Amino acid sequence: MFITIEGMDGSGKSTQAKLFAEFLREQFGADKVVLTREPGGTAIGEQIRDIVHSMRNQEMSSRAEFLLYNAARAQVVAQVIRPALAEGKIVLSDRYGDSTMVYQGYGRLLDLEMVTRVIDYATGGLKPDVTFYIDVPIGEGLARRSNGHARGEELNRMDTQTREFYERVHRGYETLMQQEPARWIKIDGTRSIERVQSELREQFTERLQTLETV
Ligand code: ADP
Ligand code: TYD
Repeated sequence: MFITIEGMDGSGKSTQAKLFAEFLREQFGADKVVLTREPGGTAIGEQIRDIVHSMRNQEMSSRAEFLLYNAARAQVVAQVIRPALAEGKIVLSDRYGDSTMVYQGYGRLLDLEMVTRVIDYATGGLKPDVTFYIDVPIGEGLARRSNGHARGEELNRMDTQTREFYERVHRGYETLMQQEPARWIKIDGTRSIERVQSELREQFTERLQTLETV
């Protein structure tokens, strides 16, 4: 089973992904669960992450950015996700192709059909079975990121976009959810970390009953 977590910057994805991986390990066994993230998840992907997120790379073109995210994705799919799924494991990814649809497609205004085709090429058509969307208002996500920054958490190049950009990204997520309601589970991310996590676990357990395989 392939599960992804999506949401705006600062929505709490990374926090929730770690806790949810713990839950999955308790439920299905520690050796059955693989937690990964994008961009990253492999040595090559983490190197690409450094390039694409470096504050020094302000001159990066939208097309270069788009291709780098997909290069990292192609690597993690080939090296981590597909092999794990072939062994019957559960893969949980903090971001995946939907992030490129909304940040590069809707956010950077790249052609959506082309974006879809390239994501398909990078992944060989591998789609998540379930995608959680952690929903927070744009301002709250940005405030959490800047509070986190004040406490020493790192900001990256994608944290420095315009308000209009994040609004397009947010609308992009809403559009994707409307297009494929059966895959998405929307979670209110404005509550405490514990509340959000228990909602995620409940919703997942419910969804599990409708999915055929684990
Ligand atoms: P993301 O991966 O979506 O950017 P993180 O999990 O890194 O989000 O969280 C961003 C910041 O918000 C961190 O400082 C984190 O401690 C804080 N945070 C996460 N979840 C919550 C929550 N439910 N309420 C308040 N702050 C949160
Ligand atoms: P990260 O530090 O992981 O932020 P977050 O915790 O918000 O996920 O950085 C990921 C950033 O990269 C985030 O701003 C979204 C962006 N991104 C894209 O623009 N396109 C993509 O395909 C992916 C995977 C991420």
